Amino acid sequence: MSLVEVGFSLQPDAEFLDLLAPVLPEVDYFEVAPETTWRRDEAGRWAPNGFHREFLRLGQVLRKPFVGHAVAGSFGTVGEGDRARQQEWQQRLVLDQRAFAFRWLTDHLGAAVLDGRAVALPIALPMNESMAAVVRARLVALQQVVADVGIENSVFYFLLGDWLDEPAFLTRILQPKHTHLLLDLHNVFTMAENVGVDAERYLAALDCDRVIEIHLSGGSHSDARWLPDGRVLRLDSHDHAVPEPVWRLFERVLPRCRRLRGVTLERMEGTVHGAADVDELRSELRRIREVLRGRS
Ligand SMILES: [Fe+2]
Repeated sequence: MSLVEVGFSLQPDAEFLDLLAPVLPEVDYFEVAPETTWRRDEAGRWAPNGFHREFLRLGQVLRKPFVGHAVAGSFGTVGEGDRARQQEWQQRLVLDQRAFAFRWLTDHLGAAVLDGRAVALPIALPMNESMAAVVRARLVALQQVVADVGIENSVFYFLLGDWLDEPAFLTRILQPKHTHLLLDLHNVFTMAENVGVDAERYLAALDCDRVIEIHLSGGSHSDARWLPDGRVLRLDSHDHAVPEPVWRLFERVLPRCRRLRGVTLERMEGTVHGAADVDELRSELRRIREVLRGRS
């Protein structure tokens, strides 16, 4: 089995980068959401912001390669009205690829833009063949930027269908060569809790030969006052330690991911505030390596 590397997500947060400076040399690669390094220039075009330069500097100084994890590709958005946005997004990625040389580039399943408006969290897609074809075409188009591209299983707070149909939908999407799955295990755990089914059933239906990367992270719960019936949902908020059940899913699914290239620990900006958070993240990165060592 080939070497699986350990990565960490860089966030556009000076305190985060400052506090985690002693930990960053330990990882093998950095994951960057390209859009977090963009700003609009005076002419309204996407241009690099200060974090673009800072992330590149960290990569150079620490000699770490990059993996791209986009958040605004919105592969499920359809219609001529979205064409210009898609082109502008991809043109900016061409420039980023020259700078970051992303080893692979992924985005989330879903629609993050509807009728020209960003909707913050990806919206679920109907899991049919015509939508699979839409997402497939977007991935193939993205291969003009990076040869290896992929899609992450998202968290949705409502669904158009049965969540357990999603593994088959992902298989339909990921037909072209060099299109991969980014398996986010905290997202699987979150969906399983919210939908009320066993996460193992989802994983059992998944074609793990398509998995190029695994995401590990933690989350929290919604405020009971948010919904009229007081229901509490698990959130994919990346603001806490990786929960033990997610570590167990990781250990169990790992032997099936024979083409895995990286395991990335994700943590949201604004959630690292002191030595205890830094120690926690360091020990999580080390635990990932221990689990990977146990596999080989
Ligand atoms: Fe993720």
